[in-house]
Amino acid sequence: MADVSGRRQVVPNVAPAAVPPPTPAPEALLEVRDLRKHFEIRGGLLGARRVGAIRAVDGVSFEVRRGETLGLVGESGCGKTTLGKLILRLLPLSRGEVRFAGRNVFEASGDELKELRRKMQVVFQDPYSSLDSRMTVGDIIGEGPLIHGMRSRQQRQEIVRALLVRVGLDAGHASRYPHEFSGGQRQRIGIARALAVNPEFVVCDEPVSALDVSIQSQVLNLLRDLQEEFGLTYLFIAHNLAVVEHISDRVAVMYLGRVVELADVEAIYRDPRHPYTVALLSAVPVPDTRIRRRRLVLTGDVPSPASPPSGCRFHTRCWLFEVLGRPGNCVATEPELRELGIGHQIACHWAEEITPQAIEAAIRAGAGAPSADRQPAGSA
Ligand SMILES: Nc1ncnc2c1ncn2[C@@H]1O[C@H](COP(=O)(O)OP(=O)(O)O)[C@@H](O)[C@H]1O
Ligand code: SF4
Ligand SMILES: [Mg+2]
Repeated sequence: MADVSGRRQVVPNVAPAAVPPPTPAPEALLEVRDLRKHFEIRGGLLGARRVGAIRAVDGVSFEVRRGETLGLVGESGCGKTTLGKLILRLLPLSRGEVRFAGRNVFEASGDELKELRRKMQVVFQDPYSSLDSRMTVGDIIGEGPLIHGMRSRQQRQEIVRALLVRVGLDAGHASRYPHEFSGGQRQRIGIARALAVNPEFVVCDEPVSALDVSIQSQVLNLLRDLQEEFGLTYLFIAHNLAVVEHISDRVAVMYLGRVVELADVEAIYRDPRHPYTVALLSAVPVPDTRIRRRRLVLTGDVPSPASPPSGCRFHTRCWLFEVLGRPGNCVATEPELRELGIGHQIACHWAEEITPQAIEAAIRAGAGAPSADRQPAGSA
């Protein structure tokens, strides 16, 4: 997935776009409002005292529309997995709300919760640790239908066989164990397990990150085909920008526990409007050496989510902040997500100041000169 951005225009298109007529907003299947997860840091004798908190997810709001794939991208440690787990109620939340088809996920109980758990499934990153090595593939895939009331063993076996074939494996593989399969095959088993309970929504948490590049696109294409066939909605998490572009309808960019930009995939990749997204896309290697020499490179490490910077938490690494002469509101006031164009949201006080000239100035000032201590963030 190396050749990802030869077609990309990193410099935003600042010319005013023609305004299309308003279209009715598509139905939201999942709504996330001000979601927060703060992991306590305990200290003192036997950890009796709370000494701080890791603000892994710190005020995230978005919707996932029925039938779409919302890509969620950001550097390692920015809170993607925690956000996915919160949505699925696999972790208790600190604050906020998750609604699935209008129902509050954290207030559901009994049969309603069981039904929500059936409709919301997950495919994990690591196909090696996510399958129980003591169970046969048939039992792994058939477990969900059993939990959800399918008592007939024969019926379950039929579902397992049909799903194995559908994900590109052999019906006879049902009697084998996970260790007998390659990484790509195991991920296909993981996908079959998620689909066995007929879900509506699937969180795909870096489902191809652990796979060989040659296998990645096969699994991505399978996920896309299954989405169409079963009418699925995906939240697709990845740190690889090319993978997200390949599969997403819209993309949310996350930085240190917050969403900083959210827009249609085309808009994100052709006309990024947040300084972080501009730098992320600019840092992706491209075959054209003239472009490579001129790219912006994100400097410094991601700050600790236990003590995020004041104001805009990106200001310690923001090239626009430097170009604009370190404006005070970047340090003092946290920017909220706001609409910059139709359906294009950004959390930056100064996004309108991103011009080709500003990017040139940042590159001239040093943000474009890679050195040993400057890590291209898109390759996290
Ligand atoms: N169970 C946990 N306890 C404490 N800290 C955690 C826990 N899970 C994740 N974190 C921390 O929360 C932050 C976000 O982690 P994670 O959601 O896994 O990020 P990502 O998936 O984007 O790499 C990281 O700093 C991570 O160390
Ligand atoms: S608000 Fe300021 S520091 Fe934050 S992204 Fe915008 S320019 Fe950079
Ligand atoms: Mg993760």
